[in-house]
Formats: sequence, C-alpha cells, structure tokens
Amino acid sequence: EDAEKSGYPHFMLKEIFEQPRALDSTLHSLLSRNDMDFDFERVTIVACGTSYHAGLVGKYLIEELLQIPVDVYYASEYRYRPDVVEDSLAIFITQSGETADTIAAARKAKVSGNETLAITNVVGSSITSYVDRVLYTNAGPEIGVAATKTFTAQLLALEYFAIRAGESMGKLSVSQVRNFINSLRKIPLYVENTLNLNDIIEKEAKKIYKNKDMFFIGRSMNYPIALEGALKMKEISYIHAEGYPAGELKHGPLALIEEGIPVIALVPEDITYDKMLSNIKEVSARNAYVIGVSSNMDVGKYVDTLIKVPETELYLSPFVNVVVLQLLAYHAARLLGRDIDKPRNLAKSVTVE
Ligand code: G6P
Repeated sequence: EDAEKSGYPHFMLKEIFEQPRALDSTLHSLLSRNDMDFDFERVTIVACGTSYHAGLVGKYLIEELLQIPVDVYYASEYRYRPDVVEDSLAIFITQSGETADTIAAARKAKVSGNETLAITNVVGSSITSYVDRVLYTNAGPEIGVAATKTFTAQLLALEYFAIRAGESMGKLSVSQVRNFINSLRKIPLYVENTLNLNDIIEKEAKKIYKNKDMFFIGRSMNYPIALEGALKMKEISYIHAEGYPAGELKHGPLALIEEGIPVIALVPEDITYDKMLSNIKEVSARNAYVIGVSSNMDVGKYVDTLIKVPETELYLSPFVNVVVLQLLAYHAARLLGRDIDKPRNLAKSVTVE
C-alpha cells in the first residue's frame, strides 16, 4: 500500500496532488469525442454526495451558457418526484458508477421518457448500462473515501458538456466555443499553482482545527463549492461544518457566529464580489475568524487571512477554490489524527438504497 501512495502519507493527499494530471487526461478524452450533439429544453441533474455538488455547479453553468432551466436532485429524493415526461435530458453524475440511489434514479428517468447521460469515472460501471450516453472522466482510480480528483474532473466534464451542447444547439458562436475550450486547457495549470499554496493552507488549518464548528460561504457557482468544502471538512475531520449561500447568513446562521468561529469565504472576481465583501463584514463585525479565498489582494483588507488563489477566467474559479478547501480539510483531519482515507461510518461507494 505504501508503494501505491508514491511517498504521500495518505491516498487523499496523493489524489489531491494528482488533479492537474487527472484534469489534463479528462480534457484529452473529452476533446476526442465527436458525438456531442444535443437537443433538449430542460436538464435534470441527479447525484449523491460530492457528485451532487458538481451537479449544482453544473446548474449555474448550463443555465448561464444555454439559458435553459436546470433542476438538481439528490438521487435519494428524485424517486419521490412524479413521473413527468418532458423534453428533458437527465444527467447522472457518479464517480463510481455504482451508487444504488443514482442507478435507481436513472432507471426511473428512462421510464419517464427522458434522454439520459451519465458522467462517471469507471469504465463499464453499472450506471453505464442504464443510460443512453456516457461521458467518462479520466481521473484514474480514487482510493480515498473523500472524493477529490474525481470531483474536479466532473466539473470539467460538465463545463465541456455545456460548451458542446451550446454549440450543437446554436446557443454559442464558433468563437465563443473556441475561447471557452482554450480556457479549459488552462485549468490543469491553475490547479497546479493552487497546489503550491499547500504550506500556507496547512498554516491556516493549524489555526482552526481545534474549533468545533465552522462555516463555508459562497455565492453563485461558489455556493456549491462552499457546500463541498464543508462536506470535506465533516467527512474526514469530523468537525461540524456548514456550507451556506452567503446571502442566507442573515436568515439564521448569523445567530451562531461568535468570537473566533472560522468562516471561510470564497470571493471570486465575478458578479458576487461586492456582495461577498458585505457578507464578510457581517461576520467580522461579530468577531468571526475569517479566511478569504480570492485572487484579489484587496480582499486582504477585510479578512483575517487571505489565501490568494490564481486568477482564472469567469466560470473557472470553482476549480481553484475547491482545491484550497480540500487541502484545508486534509490538514485539519491530519492534525486531529483522523483516519483520513477511511473515515468512520463512511464507504467509498454506497450500494444500498
Ligand atoms: C459516498 C462517498 C462520497 C461520494 C458519494 C457519491 O458517499 O463517500 O465521496 O461523493 O458516495 O458517490 P458516487 O460514486 O456516486 O459519485
């Protein structure tokens, strides 16, 4: 087992660091596809756990690029939805391809007459026999229970899907498609540069790992990244963490903010920037310990610590932000002496409904 970890103390850390390669190889395999023609009026995305968070990012992206409505369901909840036949594409995201709830949802979607597409990391996994089409992520095997490289590979597959669907449905121009694809090629480098922040992130983990509670906040595409950051923290460190859309703070969670409680705020340089700064002021005023994750140095004026991430094109900030949160959770869990690759009570793939 030590040999398989290639010198890393845990599979999770190895897999976090494998992301540039996993993304590069996923993009290569996606670029070789010549069957990316789509025609639909709605999209429904169904998944569990971390894959569900990828689906939520996909929602923002598809709605933005294609201007069509997207619903995202937990697979275990999709079954309670009435059978509605509509001109819809249903996308099932599952790293393993074996999650029982997601497979059950795929069967149901098919019966309801939807066109179906799976995004999975495992060639020939069960989900592939229940759907019309499959997009593979090429992240390589993931051993750590907490998903990392398969998540960013799913994000990439969703970005690629949205661009190609937009192209085939005439919603994006040839030059827009070219520009988007060119920006996707830069993702492995952005992630690589974010991995270089490992030491800084470890220092931050040392400041917060003794806390019992923490909050992750973001807006728009980075709201699901806040959810994912909180999930990673819960899964492997067992610290109670909540991910919140930053605008919802004042509708409840603000009551829990007290001196020293860590709030990790995602502040990309996009439409959410000013509003995120207002939310940071709200929690700072209550003496929270605020860690800002941003490419803009100015954010440093409003937070206790700024983790300065690489600047990216619009829509790509989730890739760099999530890597910071993966590393933060990893270091917190390590400082607490947790069984990082096999957290208590959790399984890599949940094959019961
Ligand atoms: C389990 C794993 C998670 C994963 C989820 C969905 O809960 O511990 O890391 O996100 O299943 O798995 P899937 O293989 O369907 O993506």
